[in-house]
Amino acid sequence: MEHILKAQQFSNREDLDKIFEATDWIRKNPNPLFFKNSGYIMATMFYEPSTRTRFSFETAMKKLGGGVLSTENAEEFSSTAKGEVLEDSIRTVSVYADVIVLRHHIEGAAERAAEVSDVPIINAGDGAGQHPTQALLDLYTIQRECGSIDGKTIALIGDLAHSRTIHSLAYLLSNYDIKKLYLVSPEFVKMKKEIIYHLAEHNITIEITSELAKIAPEVDVFYQTRLQKERFLASDFQMYQKYHKQNEFRIDAELLKLMKPEARILHPLPRVGEILHEVDSDPRAAYFRQVKNGLYLRMALLVMLLNGRYIIK
Ligand code: NCD
Repeated sequence: MEHILKAQQFSNREDLDKIFEATDWIRKNPNPLFFKNSGYIMATMFYEPSTRTRFSFETAMKKLGGGVLSTENAEEFSSTAKGEVLEDSIRTVSVYADVIVLRHHIEGAAERAAEVSDVPIINAGDGAGQHPTQALLDLYTIQRECGSIDGKTIALIGDLAHSRTIHSLAYLLSNYDIKKLYLVSPEFVKMKKEIIYHLAEHNITIEITSELAKIAPEVDVFYQTRLQKERFLASDFQMYQKYHKQNEFRIDAELLKLMKPEARILHPLPRVGEILHEVDSDPRAAYFRQVKNGLYLRMALLVMLLNGRYIIK
């Protein structure tokens, strides 16, 4: 693993299993100072807002004993504000850091960064493109919560057009023998064709629907997302407002009644009304456990990336 740019890099189950094994190991040994005295530095360059992703990477690096450089609002507080292009910023930061975690509003930004960087780039979200480490932690959460990924019926819900976590997760799911993948969204934010083709090529049974209540009794994993407000053009904004107000795919106490007792609800967060707070105390609500898994998984990824080994012992 040199850079982590997109989910298609993880195209065999052995690699995924190794990452999950390493994550399990970290869970049992949560303060392994792998990077103590290593001098390793991770830079987080975030051109878009974040709470979980940046904090979890930074916590992961600190728990491993490494150092952190951070710019949380790079658009305003880095030399970008003076007109510096991304490539020059990356070249510069790669002199100081041993790994760069990049979040950017432009799709393809992580690939551009990787072209010029001397150190590994981790894509922490590139516009409406991908967010591979979030999808890895989502997949790990499904495996941990449900015992397996094979044989499961999974519903991807919400903004399928713009949600980068959904894009990456869909690619990762194509490595598994899942029973069925429901794509649940309003028409105006449906899944990109190229991802549907990829899933079909990998023999994933897909059903496109807008009837969440109808399918709820057969779904094992509900993966909910918010409408990505920041991706809507001014011309589509009315659509956004209309849907956001009436959100017919909301998960609430009523929908819980229709779900299997062993179903699980995931969300990359932040949520803005698409899962009501009344759901949080239900044991099927897995989204805060998902956040914790993200910390362990990112610790495992950093060790693999920087120490160049899969199995942590
Ligand atoms: C997601 C993102 O930034 O793509 N958040 C995250 O990283 N956990 C999802 C979102 O913003 O809706």
